[in-house]
Amino acid sequence: MAQILERLRAQVLAMAELHRALALHPGQDIPLSDHLRRVAGSAALTSPGRVLLHQELADDCAVRPEAVLPLGQIVSEAMTNALKHAKPRSAMVQIAVRCWRDDLNRVCVEVADNGPGLAPDAASSNSLGLRLIRQLARKAGGAAEFVSTKTGLRVLVRIPRHPPSGAWS
Ligand SMILES: Nc1ncnc2c1ncn2[C@@H]1O[C@H](COP(=O)(O)OP(=O)(O)OP(=O)(O)O)[C@@H](O)[C@H]1O
Ligand SMILES: [Mg+2]
Repeated sequence: MAQILERLRAQVLAMAELHRALALHPGQDIPLSDHLRRVAGSAALTSPGRVLLHQELADDCAVRPEAVLPLGQIVSEAMTNALKHAKPRSAMVQIAVRCWRDDLNRVCVEVADNGPGLAPDAASSNSLGLRLIRQLARKAGGAAEFVSTKTGLRVLVRIPRHPPSGAWS
């Protein structure tokens, strides 16, 4: 219940922020870095003293307004998972949140942790979080990838380049 309320609270705050961003950038794409910084900061505060948060958020990651909330929710969900599935539960969790533009001009968003990584059957699991991340990535116009290694899990979302705002009909 507390987790559901926390998810709702985070979404309401994110929506309020998006409204502020839309007012600041009317009719334009919205820079992602400020939004993701706030989302990651709030997610880290749900486990005070347990998270070492590293953020590398490039300034040239503007996306369509419709993509902002889904991308923030992905960061929040992936951080919740990093904290929930760390082993041992009491361990400090290192989480890196990044966004950048790659050489194909795609906006990339990544959340990487230093936990145990996914169990072999986890990515096909029917639980909510990973499914939600896949759906949110599609909603943002891209796709999610889960890269699991011995050093942890990387959740990577890539959004292909799109025509400039105004070119949408
Ligand atoms: N960062 C992570 N590190 C290690 N295992 C993970 C991580 N994220 C997910 N998993 C594994 O993948 C499974 C599916 O994750 P998912 O988020 O879908 O479900 P959940 O976190 O168990 O429950 P919820 O529906 O509340 O999100 C988890 O049960 C866990 O075993
Ligand atoms: Mg989860």
